[in-house]
Amino acid sequence: MSQPVLQVTDLKKAYGAIQAVGGVSFEVMPGEIFGVIGPNGSGKTTLFNSMLGQITPDQGKIELKGQDVTRLGPLELNRMGVGRTFQTLQVFGKMTVRDNLIVAAQEHQGTMFSRMFAPGDSNLGDKADALIDQFHIRHVADKKAGELSYGQQKLVDIAMAFMSEPDLVLLDEPCAGVNPSLVGGISSLLKELNKTRKGSFVVIEHNMDFVMDLCHRIMVMVEGQVMAIGTPAEIRANKQVLDAYLGS
Ligand SMILES: Nc1ncnc2c1ncn2[C@@H]1O[C@H](COP(=O)(O)OP(=O)(O)OP(=O)(O)O)[C@@H](O)[C@H]1O
Ligand SMILES: [Mg+2]
Repeated sequence: MSQPVLQVTDLKKAYGAIQAVGGVSFEVMPGEIFGVIGPNGSGKTTLFNSMLGQITPDQGKIELKGQDVTRLGPLELNRMGVGRTFQTLQVFGKMTVRDNLIVAAQEHQGTMFSRMFAPGDSNLGDKADALIDQFHIRHVADKKAGELSYGQQKLVDIAMAFMSEPDLVLLDEPCAGVNPSLVGGISSLLKELNKTRKGSFVVIEHNMDFVMDLCHRIMVMVEGQVMAIGTPAEIRANKQVLDAYLGS
């Protein structure tokens, strides 16, 4: 058996009286696309932010490839191979698409020192170009990101997460606000990236067709707790999940 890329054990985070995440455990295997679903306020983003080092959990353990990373910050986690996209767009509107990608990678490389001595790192340019082609955004590569449609900006946002060649990518609502006609495209893109780049993904999404089609396994969160973990077919057939969440 290969070891999990990500192992989360009994994770807890409260905001005052609100137990946003109330003891969550799961693991993500190499190459797996793992979905996280649940009603608004069920703790999905809080869980993500804990796994990304944005917030410190009150209790529990997060392991990355067997190493305890519970107390590490975002930059350290990024360097260890964790990439992310945000629930709200984080592209730089005044920069070109290509420069957005390059800057995302420089952030990963980190220090002023490396930036000063590799301002036009052609390697980064090549990486950006490879992603631009893979994401089919060549025609807008030299446009300012702020001039693109929301759906196209979302693609740039996702592409930025892949510049650091992550082993694990956390995507918070990649379809939110995206025209429904583009949702299938995002799904096939993520499937292709999963195959060609061999990473594992954790995907939060409210679009159920998207999640069921894309994910190998799905975790259902309700009020900060894990209600179920299973294959799409198992989740669809789970009576408790139907009653609490899917059956509306
Ligand atoms: N910084 C914060 N301060 C106080 N309460 C917070 C904070 N962040 C989240 N919460 C609360 O924690 C709970 C879980 O929120 P969270 O954003 O993790 O849910 P979510 O599942 O991502 O919801 P959505 O589907 O709407 O994005 C909610 O009750 C929310 O109001
Ligand atoms: Mg959220």
